[in-house]
Amino acid sequence: EFIYELRDLSILEEKLKKILNLKNIYVVPGDFDNDQYILSDIGKEASKHILNTINDNNILGITGGTTMAEVANNMPNVHNLKDILVLPARGGIGKDLKTQSNNIAAKIAEKLNGSYKLLHIPDNIGKEALDTLMKFDEIKSLIDSIKKIDVLVFGIGRADTMAERRNLSEDIIDSLRTNKAVSEAFGYYFDTFGNIVRESNTVGLNLKDFKRIKNVIGIAAGAKKSEAILAITALRNDLTLIVDEGAARSILKKV
Ligand code: BG6
Repeated sequence: EFIYELRDLSILEEKLKKILNLKNIYVVPGDFDNDQYILSDIGKEASKHILNTINDNNILGITGGTTMAEVANNMPNVHNLKDILVLPARGGIGKDLKTQSNNIAAKIAEKLNGSYKLLHIPDNIGKEALDTLMKFDEIKSLIDSIKKIDVLVFGIGRADTMAERRNLSEDIIDSLRTNKAVSEAFGYYFDTFGNIVRESNTVGLNLKDFKRIKNVIGIAAGAKKSEAILAITALRNDLTLIVDEGAARSILKKV
């Protein structure tokens, strides 16, 4: 039965690759919307791909979120990598310590026997405050390093969920709705075709940088996120996508 299940999943992966025009899609069994433990399977699968992709002296960029937190939790301790630097891809400290990108960066760095740098800039900080912060050498040099990320792993969220989590104003939430934002990743809100609807007011990785990074790995779970995931697949067709079966089957129904 297990073998049938695997075969079934690889058929699912092949179908999705064709339809989405993506080279690398990995589907883990189960649906997060019914079983919260699926998130840790996503974390394990993502860890495996990070370890297969990363090389000595690389910079690993990460984002925050509950899915990325499971990458940190499930990353094994490795000792064969040299001088890995782990960085949060964008500012935005969030409220929950466990899912903060800074915390996740530190944890992953420890597992990889590497180092990390932290970005202490809140989400949606005013433009003036941001410009002042950007004058600090420490922040400037960190932003420079972010521009040199070799491997980026990022969570994909629904636009409505992320807008709420970030306490955006009613006006902004309305405009996200009017402009049909369905997805959020690394501070950007996208419509279903991958067009930018809104960019968070923070620093770090921008969409141009994202398109230049050698290896990008997007992770998400749950049928509820299918539209959000679909939008991100429009950004790069050499993206590695790691999703659960729930999301994968729901995407197939949508395309
Ligand atoms: C955020 C990432 O921290 O996590 C976002 O910066 C992403 O890009 C979000 O949309 C996803 O969160 P979660 O908790 O659903 O994994």
